[in-house]
Amino acid sequence: MQSGSTTEALTLSRSPGELLRQELVQVEAELLRHSVSEVEVIQEAARHILGAGGKRIRPQMLILATQVAGGSVARAIPLAAAAELVHTATLVHDDIVDDSDSRRGRTAVQFRFGNSASVLMGDYLVVRAFSIAAEDGDKRLWRILTDTICRMCEGEVLQICVKGDTSISVDVYETVIECKTALLMSTCTRFGALIGCLPERQTEALADYGYHVGMAFQIADDILDFVGDEETLGKPVGGDLREGKVTLPVIYALESATPSQREELLELYRKPGPLRTEDIRRACEIIDASGGFARARSRARDYIARACECLELLPPSEARTALWILAEQIVDRDK
Ligand code: IPE
Ligand code: IPE
Ligand code: MG
Ligand code: MG
Repeated sequence: MQSGSTTEALTLSRSPGELLRQELVQVEAELLRHSVSEVEVIQEAARHILGAGGKRIRPQMLILATQVAGGSVARAIPLAAAAELVHTATLVHDDIVDDSDSRRGRTAVQFRFGNSASVLMGDYLVVRAFSIAAEDGDKRLWRILTDTICRMCEGEVLQICVKGDTSISVDVYETVIECKTALLMSTCTRFGALIGCLPERQTEALADYGYHVGMAFQIADDILDFVGDEETLGKPVGGDLREGKVTLPVIYALESATPSQREELLELYRKPGPLRTEDIRRACEIIDASGGFARARSRARDYIARACECLELLPPSEARTALWILAEQIVDRDK
């Protein structure tokens, strides 16, 4: 990190979320509007998940990028809601795929409304996002959004295909997280650049910022899945191991662990039937002892450093500083 950047970060008196308080209120109103349906189950399920909050990081990224680019925030608000709708839909689908029972501190949608209604409600949210993009009228945004969603589906399916494969490479892992997480964040900041009509080079810089933040974000999420606090996260911990998902801390641990610890960790992935809390705790010990968490954190920090470098190509502003702070908080967050 360059020293000028650190100084800049220290001069912002409010957090990105506080800075965007008014804009985020408008995003919430949009979300509420798009969860209206005459079919009560759809509306109730949509409000169950949307009303539970969530960090709203993607809307923040999209609006801050728009401000950096000098674009119309009024135009960015509905698109920020569209990004959050897509994200929320993927969470609903992801919880069904992962068989996860809680989300945002509430019962996961499918445990309350059933799998079929929940899958279709997720589809409904995605289509509402499409309608926002169509309403905006810029064909480029429509195209980018649809491409992004296709890639997200590919990422989730690729993840299913490599489930339980303890020999997967960092490359394959990174392809999965690029598709399922980083591209949507990149799309958010790209939208901001396009709303502001930035020149090509700066548009790519903002999109790359979002991409790198997204990569770090998912690595941090995969660390939190082992070491996080369930109540703070509002979702289960240990789920990745239980589901046989081989994430970066595990890949690194398998590379550096002693032969006996390596065998023990592999055994946990091979173990039939549900794992006990004790098994998860033991996996954490092995990953920690072999430096898996530290190395994964360091890789995430590298992505954040690259994200911050991209910001150097953009004109200084309060919004650019806020993007800086948002990036810096990604790796050490607790939720
Ligand atoms: C969770 O995303 C899914 C990942 C991409 C890791 P968030 O951590 O942004 O979830 P909410 O929106 O705050 O609930
Ligand atoms: C992120 O992966 C899923 C999406 C991008 C939808 P995870 O499966 O790790 O997300 P969480 O931990 O359930 O939020
Ligand atoms: Mg999940
Ligand atoms: Mg996770």
